[in-house]
Amino acid sequence: MTSPSSSDLSGHWAAHELGRVVVSAAELQARITEMGRQITADYAGAPPLLVCVLKGAVNFMADIMRAIELPVQIDFMAVSSYGAATKTSGVVRIVKDLDVDLNNRDVLIIEDVVDSGLTLNYLRQYLGARSPRSLEVCALLLKEGEQRVEQDLKYVGFSIPADFVVGYGLDVNERYRNLDAIYTFVGEA
Ligand code: IMP
Ligand code: MG
Repeated sequence: MTSPSSSDLSGHWAAHELGRVVVSAAELQARITEMGRQITADYAGAPPLLVCVLKGAVNFMADIMRAIELPVQIDFMAVSSYGAATKTSGVVRIVKDLDVDLNNRDVLIIEDVVDSGLTLNYLRQYLGARSPRSLEVCALLLKEGEQRVEQDLKYVGFSIPADFVVGYGLDVNERYRNLDAIYTFVGEA
C-alpha cells in the first residue's frame, strides 16, 4: 500500500516505537477527499449531522468535514471502553454525550477504527434510540477479519491488517494521536 520510501522511519522522532507505515499522510488525504465527494453526492439536499467519536476520530473529523461541500452540522461524543490498552472489552462508557437533538436528523457517525465492532454496535443502539431519520457510519479504518458482529458500514476509508496501529488520532495510552500517518505500534503498550 505504501512505497518503500514512505516506510523508511529512520530519523522519525517516534521511530523506536513505530513499525511501518500502514497508511501514509498522502493516502489519507487522497482517500478522504474521495469520501467527502461521495458523502456530498449522497446527502445533497439533506446535509447530515456528523457525530465525531472522541478522541480517536478527531483528526479524521477535522479533515472529512472540510471535504464535504454541504452545510453539515457537527457534534461530539466521548466514549471509553474498559479493558486492556490494546483490546476493547465491548463495555462502553459514555464520557460525553451529544448536545443536539437527533430527532428526524440524518446522522453520520464518524469513527476512527472498527476492530471487534463492539463499540460501534453499542453506539448505534444508543443513538438509534433517539429517533434519527437515518443513522449511518463513516469509518476511516476497518480491521480485516476482526469483527465479531457483521457491520453495516456506509463508508470505509481503508481495510487494514489486524495489527495495533497508532497515529492520525489513534493512540496507545494517549500517545501518538498527533502523527499525520498511521503506523503499526511495536513498543510496550
Ligand atoms: P472495537 O470496539 O473493538 O471495534 O474497537 C473500537 C475502538 O478501540 C476504537 O474506536 C479505538 O478507540 C480502539 N482501537 C481499536 N483498534 C485500535 C488500534 O489499532 N489502535 C488504537 N486504537 C484502537
Ligand atoms: Mg482509543
